[in-house]
Amino acid sequence: MDGIKILGTGYSVPEVVISNDDMAKIVDTNDEWIRTRTGIERRHNIPEGKGLTEYGADAALKALRMAGVLPEEIGAVIFATLSSEYLVPATACLIQKELGIPEDALCFDLNAACSGFIFAIHTMECLLNASERKYGLIIGAENLSRLLDMTDRSTCILFGDGAGAAVVKSDPSYTSINAVYGSSGNKDMLYVPGAQSKEPSYIHMDGTNVFKFAVSIIPQCIEKVLAKAGKTTDDVDFYVFHQANARIIDLVVRKYKIPKEKYYKNISEYGNTSAGSIPIVLGELMEQKKIGTGSRVLIVGFGGGLTWGGALVEIGSREG
Ligand code: ACO
Repeated sequence: MDGIKILGTGYSVPEVVISNDDMAKIVDTNDEWIRTRTGIERRHNIPEGKGLTEYGADAALKALRMAGVLPEEIGAVIFATLSSEYLVPATACLIQKELGIPEDALCFDLNAACSGFIFAIHTMECLLNASERKYGLIIGAENLSRLLDMTDRSTCILFGDGAGAAVVKSDPSYTSINAVYGSSGNKDMLYVPGAQSKEPSYIHMDGTNVFKFAVSIIPQCIEKVLAKAGKTTDDVDFYVFHQANARIIDLVVRKYKIPKEKYYKNISEYGNTSAGSIPIVLGELMEQKKIGTGSRVLIVGFGGGLTWGGALVEIGSREG
């Protein structure tokens, strides 16, 4: 199978910032509890009158610009989310139209909760092998603030809104991203009621058990990706983990003795943005030049479904 590389990234987060002190005015919580238990200091919320589609489109445009790829070169668009603005049309289709991506591109939304970006980039690698156009657009974005029960202090303090995007290129000379992935149907640990439910569509989560699941599944993903790629931790330039809780990341980096210049946390600023979290991190890392052409980045996600996955992704440029 031809591999893919990421040529450009972009991110777009709402201007409205909700601090921990703001949350403490709504539920019985406080800044100290939230910071020490989660690492979160604030989150960004999409305001009334604005929708997820415009943040997704903005992130996508930035990624296209960085990649130097034109909309008409895109063969597929995958929009990973669990909080789309509409059930139909798919947000991917709305963004296709807005950006002028050709009508014969394959455009659809994908729901794998916080593993959305991993599932999407693997799906994109497979799709581009069968596509005549060799560039793909992946967006991970969420409007989770609309799905929060603001009387449940154990969930409402955790989540935020935002969008990240990546433009990838498929080429026979590229190695595969060697994605690993899995799922295990479970609605006791995490669920959001859907359109047929009489309950409001709020995120329900058994945080303690999701925490334990995360801490055990991330190392499995790291090891499986490295084994599949025939690489070791020495071959990894940067680690990007789904930003669910700073303590989860701290436990993993301690286990693998990953030095602080090789991983990144932005959960303090955005909270958990589910499918948005990994591409927002990638966008910030590219902007800050912490990663660039030639960097090998190990990405790992986990979340509702339950779902999990990882991949070893290389950053490339249009020329090579
Ligand atoms: N402020 C103050 N106290 C609180 C708050 C709050 N916001 N929330 C809970 N508490 C209290 C609890 O009521 C409990 O009190 P008690 O001992 O009197 O009963 C106490 O704090 C401890 O609660 P725990 O739930 O045991 O706290 P824990 O340390 O496990 O942290 C948390 C909870 C932050 C949710 C953690 O379990 C976590 O981060 N889990 C993982 C979440 C995650 O990874 N999600 C990813 C998937 S999301 C997706 O896919 C959409």
